[in-house]
Amino acid sequence: MSVDLSTSLGSLKLSAPTLTASGCAAAGRELAQFGDVSTLGGVVTKSIMLNARSGRPTPRMAETPSGMLNSIGLQGPGIEQFIEKDLSWLTENGVTTIVSIAGGSVAEFGELARRLRDVPGIAALEVNISCPNVESRGQVFACNHESSSDVIRTVRSEWNDETPILAKLTPDVTDIVSIAQSVVEAGANGLSMINTLLGMVIDVDAMKPMLGGKTGGLSGPAIRPVAVRAVYQVHAALPDTPILGMGGIRNGHDALEFLAAGASALSIGTVVFGDPSAPWRIARELGEELDKRGYQSVREVIGKAHQAG
Ligand code: SIN
Repeated sequence: MSVDLSTSLGSLKLSAPTLTASGCAAAGRELAQFGDVSTLGGVVTKSIMLNARSGRPTPRMAETPSGMLNSIGLQGPGIEQFIEKDLSWLTENGVTTIVSIAGGSVAEFGELARRLRDVPGIAALEVNISCPNVESRGQVFACNHESSSDVIRTVRSEWNDETPILAKLTPDVTDIVSIAQSVVEAGANGLSMINTLLGMVIDVDAMKPMLGGKTGGLSGPAIRPVAVRAVYQVHAALPDTPILGMGGIRNGHDALEFLAAGASALSIGTVVFGDPSAPWRIARELGEELDKRGYQSVREVIGKAHQAG
């Protein structure tokens, strides 16, 4: 098999098509026992906030049919510790690193971008404007055109021109295409999509929501058709905007579906909890799926499903 698995997200060249999804492999180091992390397309780190944060009350995870709910609430060590401990490990180990940032306000997003601007070893910034596990729906910036573009415009003004900014979108909106257009106009170079869908599980013995935070983000195979639809619609409207696709990808076949819809690279999330080697396995399987169909590269199938009309 001689399929070329390399791809790119705009100006960012990737030697492999699969990356970790933010929140599913911390800052990458915990995957090192399962494979060489530097051979992945990249690691997208758990969204980092300015200050250390303990997150939402437990329980924070619940199983659902074909998926899971998480209600972590952006737990993390804060930007200074992240730079010192996590980012330094990723840089020393030659990992293509996409740093995911999350702010409680537009100003906080700007401050994070300013703090990271001159730190070496960052291949791209993923701006998480779509975490569902926040204090109020008003903080899900990606639900609204104005707030999502305000965040991206502010980050753009604090960031450098060389390193791409990816805006992470939620599918919990009426029209994801118009949100995508807004953030691209505001300065995003690419899009990460999709984040989890807001969901709930009720414990009918206790007669209360299962999660401490009541609601949580639904991920896993249950959301894959929603993600594929969103990627397809956005690629149709913005064919020149690179998309990092994600949402329930379990194998090479699923990965191929996202490429055909218009994604240029893939983040592997929930499946990693059961199979930590999944980002490497899925890249291999994708190569086999492409080979079987007579394709020689990842690049030639990006958006292919649009040609059928
Ligand atoms: C969380 O930390 O609650 C999840 C983050 C996200 O879904 O964006």
